[in-house]
Amino acid sequence: MNNFKKDFPIFTKNPSIVYLDSTASSQKPSYVINSIKDYLENDYSNIHRWLYDIAINSEKLYFDSKKKIANFLNAPDYKEIIYTYNSNYALNLLSQTLRFNKVLKAWDKVLVSIVEHHSNIVPWLILKEEIGIELEFINVTKNFDLDINDFEKKYDDKVKIISLTYVSNVTGQIFDLEKIWKLKRDNTLFIVDASQSFPHFKVDVQALNADFAFFTGHKIMADSWIWVLWWKREFLEKYNPVFSWGWAINEVKECGFKNWAIPFRFEPWTPNMTWALSLLKALEYIEKIWGYEEIQKVEDELVKYALEKFNAREKITLVWSKKIENRVWVFSFYIDWIHSLDIADQMAEENICIRAGQHCAEPFADYLWIKSSCRMSLYIYNSFEDIDKFFDVIDNILENN
Ligand SMILES: Cc1ncc(COP(=O)(O)O)c(C=O)c1O
Repeated sequence: MNNFKKDFPIFTKNPSIVYLDSTASSQKPSYVINSIKDYLENDYSNIHRWLYDIAINSEKLYFDSKKKIANFLNAPDYKEIIYTYNSNYALNLLSQTLRFNKVLKAWDKVLVSIVEHHSNIVPWLILKEEIGIELEFINVTKNFDLDINDFEKKYDDKVKIISLTYVSNVTGQIFDLEKIWKLKRDNTLFIVDASQSFPHFKVDVQALNADFAFFTGHKIMADSWIWVLWWKREFLEKYNPVFSWGWAINEVKECGFKNWAIPFRFEPWTPNMTWALSLLKALEYIEKIWGYEEIQKVEDELVKYALEKFNAREKITLVWSKKIENRVWVFSFYIDWIHSLDIADQMAEENICIRAGQHCAEPFADYLWIKSSCRMSLYIYNSFEDIDKFFDVIDNILENN
């Protein structure tokens, strides 16, 4: 297997770390880290109102990053890409824009799945409180796929929005979204949370028939606080922005204002150039290592190896899928009689980084009647040895409790 670990300086500086928390945030390769330093030393400036060289370079990098993302997402136009801070912000921006433009009104229904991250639940709950929309949850099957029968039951005439994650951050299950868009009516908008899919495999917004999609930079080796919100151009043109200031405004008079053209009117701030650059470099790094194909090759081997070890230990309950297909390298689990925080704590003592809790998916934890679970997750820099070290500690815990 390829050794990508050497590309990530955190592991050279901290050789004893076993990092198994990439579903929360991935580590950064030196290609990204050095590019940020290089940019700040050589080209940094504000953009859009420029005549001088470093601003021209900065502007070019900014748009290059959007062009690269559009290319990765198979979006028709890079101007459909909007940067925000994180997914919560992206979804709030979108939900508030839908309210502001009266796309969503009292009694309209939004359908999400029961596994969603809070960031795809709370913005809709806010609209439920604010204007009286309804929010309904689609169940999952025993295999943790979307329950299409339940979807069909709940997909009535009141549904205006279907907003679904592509991959669960708890189970690692990949949802078959094709089934959903095949059943979707033209008057329903389709939002895809690609946060846990974009770091692993090609997300094609056109093939998905999505109207909006979003993902985060920090899970795909870029810096924190850069989110990508992709909109179909017709909605960018049709909707008025709910927030507007700074250079998003074209003309301001005492009696009124005109909004700037797309996409700037939905990006009403001086953008963080360093974040945008880091995302560009992260995607270039993926291209340098032969793209998603290489990521998936490593993923398949590590998933197979980890699953064999989980499945060999009957005292561990995986949440939940024991199967190898249609999943990414996320493993949530619990041991009946040991608190998940105690397991994470013992892992931390051995410098093994995992996570414990409800993974920002509390409705899903309630649905499964689980108070909390541990989550270990992998990425391209992980190795068989990392998984072995994790199971050495697990075995020790099992032996001594
Ligand atoms: C499926 C999913 N959606 C949204 C988010 C939220 O991302 P952020 O913390 O960058 O807002 C996460 C983060 O774990 C996630 O897994």
